[in-house]
Amino acid sequence: MLTEAGNLLMMSPRAKDGDQWMKMSQALIDTAEIALRAAEAKNIDGLYDVGGRIDEACENCHKKYWPNY
Ligand code: HEC
Repeated sequence: MLTEAGNLLMMSPRAKDGDQWMKMSQALIDTAEIALRAAEAKNIDGLYDVGGRIDEACENCHKKYWPNY
């Protein structure tokens, strides 16, 4: 669901620009894929670690693009 969310964020009319927005959406896709692989491997530490990186991917975009965040 999170990788698909990253794809959906990249699509018009949601995408706010073709540069940082795309990179930040891709960061969500990339970290979500790592989480999926960790979950499939039942790698609890790996899932825990990447959870922080997913949160950063959300936060980085909100700080830049969410008005009055
Ligand atoms: C590529 C940019 C981007 C990424 C990545 C992103 N968001 Fe957002 N998100 C936004 C923007 C921009 C808004 C504010 C939209 C508005 O109200 O104008 C928002 C709003 C939200 C809202 C509020 C929605 C509402 O209706 O009030 C939630 C909840 C949210 N994001 C959760 C997340 C979570 C959880 C993640 C990571 C898993 C995430 N977002 C990743 C850009 C992003």
